[in-house]
This record gives sequence, structure tokens and C-alpha cells, in this order.
Amino acid sequence: MTEDFDVRLVEDVKTYTPDPQYRKNAWMGDYQKAYDEFLADPDAFWEKMAKELDWISPWDKVKEWNYPYAKWFTGAKLNITANCLDRHVNDTRRNKVALIWRGEGGRERIFTYQKLLSQVARFANALRKIGVKKGDTVCIYMPLVPEQLIAMLACARIGAVHSVVFGGFGAAALNMRITDADAKVVITADITIRRGKAIQLKAIVDEAIINASTVEHVVVLRRREPHVDLHENELDFYEMMDGMSDVCPPEVMDAEDPFFILYTSGSTGKPKGIVHTCGGYMVGTYYTSKYIFDIKDNDTFWCTADPGWITGHSYIVYGPLAVGATVFISELTPDYPDAGSYWNLIEEQKITIFYTAPTAIRMFMKMGESWPDKYDLSSLRIIGSVGEPLNPEAFEWYYRVIGKSRTPILDTWWQTETGMHMITTMIGEPMRPGFAGKPIPGVEADVVDKDGNSVKPGTGGLLVIKSPWPAMLRTVYKDDERYRKYWETISGVYTVGDLAVKGKDGYIMILGRSDDIIIVAGHNIGTAEVESALVSHHAVAEAAVIGKPDVMKGNSIKAFVILRVGNNPSDRLKQDLMHHVRTTLGPIAIPHEIDFVDKLPKTRSGKIMRRVLKAQEMGIDPGDVSTLEE
Ligand code: WT7
Repeated sequence: MTEDFDVRLVEDVKTYTPDPQYRKNAWMGDYQKAYDEFLADPDAFWEKMAKELDWISPWDKVKEWNYPYAKWFTGAKLNITANCLDRHVNDTRRNKVALIWRGEGGRERIFTYQKLLSQVARFANALRKIGVKKGDTVCIYMPLVPEQLIAMLACARIGAVHSVVFGGFGAAALNMRITDADAKVVITADITIRRGKAIQLKAIVDEAIINASTVEHVVVLRRREPHVDLHENELDFYEMMDGMSDVCPPEVMDAEDPFFILYTSGSTGKPKGIVHTCGGYMVGTYYTSKYIFDIKDNDTFWCTADPGWITGHSYIVYGPLAVGATVFISELTPDYPDAGSYWNLIEEQKITIFYTAPTAIRMFMKMGESWPDKYDLSSLRIIGSVGEPLNPEAFEWYYRVIGKSRTPILDTWWQTETGMHMITTMIGEPMRPGFAGKPIPGVEADVVDKDGNSVKPGTGGLLVIKSPWPAMLRTVYKDDERYRKYWETISGVYTVGDLAVKGKDGYIMILGRSDDIIIVAGHNIGTAEVESALVSHHAVAEAAVIGKPDVMKGNSIKAFVILRVGNNPSDRLKQDLMHHVRTTLGPIAIPHEIDFVDKLPKTRSGKIMRRVLKAQEMGIDPGDVSTLEE
């Protein structure tokens, strides 16, 4: 972890104050009032939120905090899909549009709440029929199509634990996630479509399950006509649903039953299986979808993430559906068929709330204002950002060009581990470019030094969360030690792993990771993961990886590689190594630059000092090098 956070803050940033109507009409109303209400009685605050939802039976206690383990809504029984689907179908939203999907070539698919519930119930019954039971793990490795959401919701319906793996991951990354989670079923599709091209997804699954002995079935959504042949133990997504009833009683889940596993990069080569549970996650994502995004019944909500990331779990699937929103999703990329693709969709669908990532915003900036200017974006009322710091230049552009200097920007800070938004500037509150904002009602955050002392306003330190929250991770799958580390790095608080600066008025500026995780285009990648992928190549003896600031992607990956004797540096080998990382981890982890070196800076105990490499690379002072070996 970085030891010196001598960050001084320039406080003279401009403040933007949204139209008072925003605050007046927001579900939350006044931020400070809501925050004070929460602080006065945290359990009462969360209990009030939980009571807005349907439970099969109520809780004994709102929270049981047995540091570092929390339980929420103890003893309560529920099923999240009853809240995401049945609650609306049984009420006035039966025929409301739940989901709109747009593919390439103008293809559109629309599901009402009733239709979505029927599809989920039928697929859930089909999963039950092939033997999937409560507590079994199902791996979902699919493109961004409605069936991906149906698969997730069907698992939730029957209490199966889903582990969704982003469709851009390579075979080794997928294999690790399937085997670590002991997945019984893998749900995939024959192809994913990117920029007009079909990418063979199922071929990656074939490779990833070679030694995965727990996998009993592979379910394939066959998109291509004529259908590809299926092998033994492979089932067709829709054939499985044939003859299945569209009634599927929801499994009765305990609030603390595991809900899903989602892998995220850590500081070792092995990603962490973050475990979320049913009750707290439901309340946290419902609360933030309603009160942070301020979703109203007539909104059309578009989060551009993939359900394979936590952003998609919480703010494409579970949160927005729990509030009964109309959710828009699209398989299109922001640059295909042209650089106006997203703006065209906003105009076409009259999107009202748009949630994307800084890396996309910076790409839009590069492509120029003439693209968004061609379209009518006046339906937008809130625009959001997530995944990495939204730098002031990108903020200003997003606010002016997309928001027309009118719509508030919700820069939301949170993590796979937190499950829900934690820090933002609430709708209607003054916005300060560069600052994510303040902890939301329900969350206590602070910036501290490495001993846990709160830093003075205007200085930097480590971002921490000071008390448990309902949607927090409960453990790291099969590795509780790694869970404890979050709460034991600094005793008594949850250490986030980010560096931050506390502004004079309580606003928090997020600077970036303090550990060996690199955020590339909003994706979390561990240096150790890329290093071990490189070392798995026959020509590589040792590798060290750093993140280099990149105007577009936030960071890019640079690798320093020591070759095994008998191998010579060449451009061809560089290409080969890049290709190797692509096929093992996936395109998001490819090093942008590779240097062949004879030596790596190490401590006397043999740990690679990436900080020294980074300082050399950027021509800055490496700081304390007393532990560097001669
Ligand atoms: C890390 C978590 C939560 C969904 C996406 C990423 C960085 C996230 C922000 C933001 C500055 C941010 C942090 C965090 N991050 N949102 N608004 N401003 N940084 O989830 O993959 O678990 O990554 O993303 O460094 O720790 P994740």
C-alpha cells in the first residue's frame, strides 16, 4: 500500500447548483435531513427502507454486528424475484414495460413485467427439472441479451447461486471462475455480437470446462440460424423451456442465504469470489435505485454496463426491477455503427436516466461534439458515472454537451464488494467537478491515515467505511481470510483500497487505487493476474505489471518481462505475448506496452517493487527505496 499520501487540495473548483426543482421532486428530498435521520438511528432508517418491500416473513433484528461479520434482517424470509417481478405484476405494473433490448440492425425486443415473469418462471422450472437446487452454483457466461437477465432471475427464483462472468473474459479466466465456484451448470450462447462481427462464445466455454468436473450441463442459447449442433450434456435454452409451466413458486430464502458470487480482481493472481446475500442486497439496491437514481414510474433507465459486472447486477437487473422501472439495454457499442450510436438510442428510446463510465465519456469527448449534437437528448433528466474518477474536464464536457448544462451528474462511488452506491452527490445537491460527493444516507465514510485517524480537511488518505451496510459482501468464497482483511487492515473499519481527499465541506475526491489493482477503462484488473498470465507463456521467466496514466482509459497496462534463456526479444514475441494474455484473461487485460528487461527491482525479500518501475516510467521520484536490494 502507498505510504505517503501527501496530497494537498486545490479547493477553488467551480460549483454547479442544479435547478431547485430537482431536489423538490426527488424521492429523497433534502440530503442533510435524510442523513441526520439515518445517523440518529441507523437501524430505524434501514428498517423503513426494508418495509417498502415484500417479505415472506419479517426479521427479528435489523442488524447483528459481530465485528467483522454482519447479518442483516435476521430470520427474515424473502425471494428477490417476488419483489422484482410478482410485486409489480400483482399490482398496477402488470403490463408496464420492464425491459427493452436493442441489438444491431434496429432489432428490438420488449418484455412487459408479465412477460418477463413468465419467461423467468419457465426457465426457472427448466433449471429445476435438470436438477438445479437451492444453493447450487450456476455460471452465466452470456452476451448482453434479455436471456442473460432471464437466466440470472431464474437462478434467483429457485435459490441457485449465480456467478455471472463477463462475456469478454478469456478461457483461463472463465475456467478459474467455474472451478473455484464448483459450478454445476454453465449457461452460455453460441455467439456474442460486437461491432457487426460474431464472436464464438461457446468455443471459449468448451475450452474452459475441460477439467471442470463439477459441470453437469451446458445450456446454450442458439442465436445463429441454422442452429449449431449440440454435444452430449448440452441443452438448448428454449427447448428446455418447452412445455414448462409459467408458474414457479419462488424458493423461500433466508435473508442471509448466499445470493450470488461475483469475481473481482485482488492483489494476488487469484480473483476474489465476492459473496452477496439475499436480504441486505435487495434492500441496498432497491433503496439506491429509488432514492439515489430517483427512478420514477415514467423513467426509462439505461445503464450501459454489462450484467457481468456488479454495476449490471445492481443497476440493470435487481435494483431497477425492484423499483418497477423500465430498463433499457443494448448490445451495441458506443462506436458502432458509428460514433452517434448511444445518442441515437437516447433519442429513439427517450432515455431519461443514463448511467455510463468515465472511459466512455472521454471517448465521446475525443470523437467530438458534432455526434451528440446531431440528436435530441432533451429526454435526459439525470446522467450518471461510475467505475473510476470522473476528472473535471470530463465532468464539464458531460455536463455541458450531454446534460445541456441542465441535468445533474450523479458520480457514484462504490465497488463489487459494497454491492450498492456509497458516495455520490445526491440529485439537487451542489456538484463539484472532481469530487464524487458525500456518503449517502445509510453510509458512514471517512478519509483516514494508515493508523485510522481522520485526516484534516484538504488532505488525502485512505478511504474507509466506518460501519456495516446491508448490501456489503459477507465473505470471499472459500477464502474468509481475504474477507477479514477488508476489516482488519485498519482495525474497526472497512478499508476500501482507494486513496481519497477530503474536501473542506465533506465532499470526497477519489484519487484511485492504493493497492496493486489497475482500473483500465473502468475494469478492475490485478497486476498479479496479468503477471501470472504472462508467466504462463513458455518464453517468459518473470513479469511485472504496472498501470500507466492514460488520457482515454484512465490507465493502461505496461508489462516488464524477463525472458527464459534461449528466447530473444522481438516484436513478434511481443505480439505473441499480447495474444496470449487476450486468450487467457480476455481483451480487457492486454498489456498496451511490453518491455523486455534483464532485471526487475525487488525488495531484499524478493517482492517486486512496482512502485519503482512506475516512478522510472513516469520520471518521478520513487520515494523510499531503502528496502530495494542492491
Ligand atoms: C473500484 C471498484 C462499482 C462499479 C464499478 C466498479 C473505482 C468506482 C468510482 C467513482 C472514482 C471509482 C474505485 C473502486 N471506482 N466508482 N465514481 N469514482 N473511482 O466496481 O470493479 O469493484 O471497482 O472502482 O477505485 O474501488 P469494481
